[in-house]
Amino acid sequence: MKIRAAVLEEFGAPLVVRELDLAEPGPGEVLVRVVACGVCHTDLYTASGADPSGYAPTVLGHEGGGVVEALGEGVSDLALGDHVVTLFSPQCRECIHCLSDRTNLCLAIREQQGKGFLPDGTARLSRGGEPIRHFMGTSTFAEYTVMPSIALAKINPEAPLEAACLFACGLSTGLGAAINTAKVEAGSTCVVFGAGMVGLGAVAGCRLQGAERIVCADLSQDRLELARGQGATDVMVGDEHSVERILELTDGFGADYTFEATGSVAVMRQAVESARMGWGLCTVTGVAGKGEMLNVVPRFLITGRRVAGSSFGGVKGRDQVPQFVERYLAGEIDVEAFLSHRITLDQVNEGFELMERQDGIRSVIGFS
Ligand SMILES: NC(=O)c1ccc[n+]([C@@H]2O[C@H](COP(=O)([O-])OP(=O)(O)OC[C@H]3O[C@@H](n4cnc5c(N)ncnc54)[C@H](O)[C@@H]3O)[C@@H](O)[C@H]2O)c1
Ligand SMILES: [Zn+2]
Ligand SMILES: [Zn+2]
Repeated sequence: MKIRAAVLEEFGAPLVVRELDLAEPGPGEVLVRVVACGVCHTDLYTASGADPSGYAPTVLGHEGGGVVEALGEGVSDLALGDHVVTLFSPQCRECIHCLSDRTNLCLAIREQQGKGFLPDGTARLSRGGEPIRHFMGTSTFAEYTVMPSIALAKINPEAPLEAACLFACGLSTGLGAAINTAKVEAGSTCVVFGAGMVGLGAVAGCRLQGAERIVCADLSQDRLELARGQGATDVMVGDEHSVERILELTDGFGADYTFEATGSVAVMRQAVESARMGWGLCTVTGVAGKGEMLNVVPRFLITGRRVAGSSFGGVKGRDQVPQFVERYLAGEIDVEAFLSHRITLDQVNEGFELMERQDGIRSVIGFS
C-alpha cells in the first residue's frame, strides 16, 4: 500500500513528508493505522546525526497509538480494530529476560530492530523497490506501520489515542522508574532531577506509590509548575548547589529515593549524592552523551547508597502499559497536562522546533 510518512533523508536536514510503499504484515506481524504519535527527543537526536547508531533514510517516530488494521499469519493475541500503543521495548513473554521479573529487556528481536529491520531481517518500508529501514522497530511518523505483535500493547479503546500514545516512551519510563525500579515505599521522601516527560512521570509515579514528600528540581519555572501539578510537594531551580539544598530540606541526610531524568552526568552525580546514607537509592534514567562518564566517590556507596539504571522504567510493555492506561482513565494520572501542542504530520519539523525551545512537554501528531 501507499502511505505518507516523514522520512529522515539526511542527518541534520528537516524531515521530508512523502509517499512510500508499505508491504503487508508477514508472519507474527501486524498492520497498524497510526492515529497519534508523540514527538520525542530521541527522534530529534537521531535526526541530528548525533546518535552513533543512527541510519538514514528511515522513518522516525516511536510514540505511536493506533488501530489494528490487518494481521499477519499466526497472530492470535490481537484482533482487527484493537487499539494499541507501540513499544520500542517489546515483550515476547518467552525469552529468559521476559520470564524473569527482574528486567524488561526482552531479547527476542533486539539485534534486527537495532539494524532497522523487522525480526526476519527485512524491511516492509520501501520506495521504488529500494528498502527503507524502520526506526526503533516502530516508524510511527507515518499513516500506517507494520510491527511485530510482541511490540504492541493492547489498550482500553475508551482511552483517546492522542493521550495514550504518550505511554509509549517517556511517561512510562518515569512512572516505571518509581514504581518498578525504585519500588518507592509509601511515606518516603523522593527527589526528582529534571521535569521533562520522564521526570514528570517519575514525580507522578512517586505520588502513586504514596510518597510523602516529592522534591523536584529543574531549570524552568514553567516545568516546576507542571511538577507541582503531578504531585511535587517542593520545587527548586537546579544548580551546582542542588545537593546542599536537598540535604537542608531532608534533615541533613538526603532522600530515600532520588531520580535523575536530565541526561547530564553532573546531575546524575548530584542524584547519587542526594540519596540518603544507609539505604538511599538513586535511579538513573537519562541518556548521557557518547563517551561521558558518571563520577561517584566510592564512599557514597560504602555508606549504603545504591545506584540503579532504568530502561523504559523497567516496564514490561504488553502487561503494564495497558495498566497505566487504566490508571489514566481512572483519573490517577493526568496525561492531558503533557499534551502541549496538536500538530499534523506535515508540521513534524515544527514539532522538533517546539521541543528545542522547550515549548511545552509534548507535541502530538494527529492523523486524520
Ligand atoms: N531510560 C529510558 O528508557 C529513557 C526513555 C526516554 C528518555 N530517556 C532520557 O531521559 C532524559 C530525560 O528525557 P525528557 O524527555 O524528560 O527530557 P527533557 O529534555 O524534556 O527534560 C530534561 C529536563 O532536565 C532539566 N535539567 C537540565 N539540567 C538540570 C539541572 N542541572 N538540574 C535540574 N534539572 C535540569 C531541563 O530543564 C529539562 O526540563 C533524557 O536524557 C532522555 O534521553 C530515557
Ligand atoms: Zn521517546
Ligand atoms: Zn522476551
